[in-house]
Amino acid sequence: MVTRRRLLGTGLAAAGVGLTGASFTPLLAVDPAKASPAKAGPSTAATPELFTRPMPLMPVLRPTFRTSTADHYDVTMRAVRREVLPGIQTDLLTYNGHFPGATIKARTGRPVIVRQRNELDVATSVHLHGASVTQANDGDPMDTLAPGGERIYTYPNKQPHASLWYHDHAHHKESENVYRGLHGSYLLTDAIEDKLPLPKGEYDVVVAIRDAHFDAAGQLVYTMDDQQRSTLLVNGVPYPYFQVAARKYRLRFANMSNQRFIGLRLADGGEMIQIGSDGGLLPRPHTTDSFILSPGERADVVIDFSRYAVGHKVVLENTIIFAGNAEQVGQVMRFDVVRTADDPSSVPSVLRSLPALPAPTNERSIAMQMEEGVAHPKGFMDGKMYDPARVDANIRFGASEIWTVTNTNARVPHNFHMHLVQFRVLERGGKPPAPGETGLKDTVIVAAGETVKLQATFDSYRGSYVYHCHMLDHSAMGMMATMRIS
Ligand code: C2O
Ligand code: CU
Ligand code: CU
Repeated sequence: MVTRRRLLGTGLAAAGVGLTGASFTPLLAVDPAKASPAKAGPSTAATPELFTRPMPLMPVLRPTFRTSTADHYDVTMRAVRREVLPGIQTDLLTYNGHFPGATIKARTGRPVIVRQRNELDVATSVHLHGASVTQANDGDPMDTLAPGGERIYTYPNKQPHASLWYHDHAHHKESENVYRGLHGSYLLTDAIEDKLPLPKGEYDVVVAIRDAHFDAAGQLVYTMDDQQRSTLLVNGVPYPYFQVAARKYRLRFANMSNQRFIGLRLADGGEMIQIGSDGGLLPRPHTTDSFILSPGERADVVIDFSRYAVGHKVVLENTIIFAGNAEQVGQVMRFDVVRTADDPSSVPSVLRSLPALPAPTNERSIAMQMEEGVAHPKGFMDGKMYDPARVDANIRFGASEIWTVTNTNARVPHNFHMHLVQFRVLERGGKPPAPGETGLKDTVIVAAGETVKLQATFDSYRGSYVYHCHMLDHSAMGMMATMRIS
């Protein structure tokens, strides 16, 4: 079907992701035609020109000091004005003035200690997404850092390598705080990953994608469930080009959008090798022409540009067109092949082995739902809105549980994110997971009407942690709940 192919791109259905066109139209609760323009605020006149500026490489955060046992960092959250759209200064909320935040590089077994100072006029909470940390260091929605305050977050890094990310999580403010700039990457590596001959150094690149809605003055507009976030930013720049050598690159794609699903595909249908997902490398590489990232998900992908001649340019497209037309959101960035280079890297046919799943000790079901077709929808987990004073799931320490997560909406897609654990996807719609979902995951798409079964083992820390839809407007609407491991 032509429309469906256009919406999702070719190969996505074949990849077994199980999404249908219907589950993306409309993605949000409010019909765009009925959305009040006053609520949405003024729009920008036009999409910024495509591929006129280089994609910035995210700076790597430097430790303030290192001891024999840990790396210590200092980060200040502050408001800055920075050029995002050409020639215009935009107000942003940042970690240390960077948009997105600088990348933190960490190693398994070596703790990272971050002193966060909040110089913003809004409360914040810093969450390291995908990390196994104690409750006090998780950036819980209620455990906020007041304006003017500071606190120390300790990340033990007792988990295998993974492409993590950090972002704000203050209750009822996370959605807007993240949207205004409080998000960055955290790359955790280990000996397993080190030994592989994958592209490294300058050929291992963070590509953080998100959308934004700019008003006519070039300022960020934030409204819940906004359908006009139709400018795509890559590493903080709209529609950049990236000059590459004709060799293999490891691209660490992350979707840091508030609620946009992104389907990535090279315009020529060229091959991409997915080697990793949220929780690090896949067991085996997966060759594809496209993949989908919902908000919060990551994919490590190797693209071999040696198949192109120097001078060739290839656009990275977004195959999921909503909240904006194809001209605004159908393209993401362009790779410009500008030189040749040696390439000692390769993608081995086996990347890692994951431990066998333990026998499950408990099962439970979770229903995700959001009101559809109303102006200010509420969101529910098992029929209840988030209440930080309530425990929704009591889990025995050491348990390995199967969670059957169902999106009971007719049209609105969700995704499902758990703090503290990396889980395994067992089934999507009764079928085995797609190859890209066979690794460790912390965030998984649950399309409208769909059921996903996953297994998580709670053997790291005791305490209370949230699980929620990672479309952050949805979690702010109430699609969040608390599990207590004890
Ligand atoms: Cu990305 Cu509750 O987090
Ligand atoms: Cu998280
Ligand atoms: Cu949702």
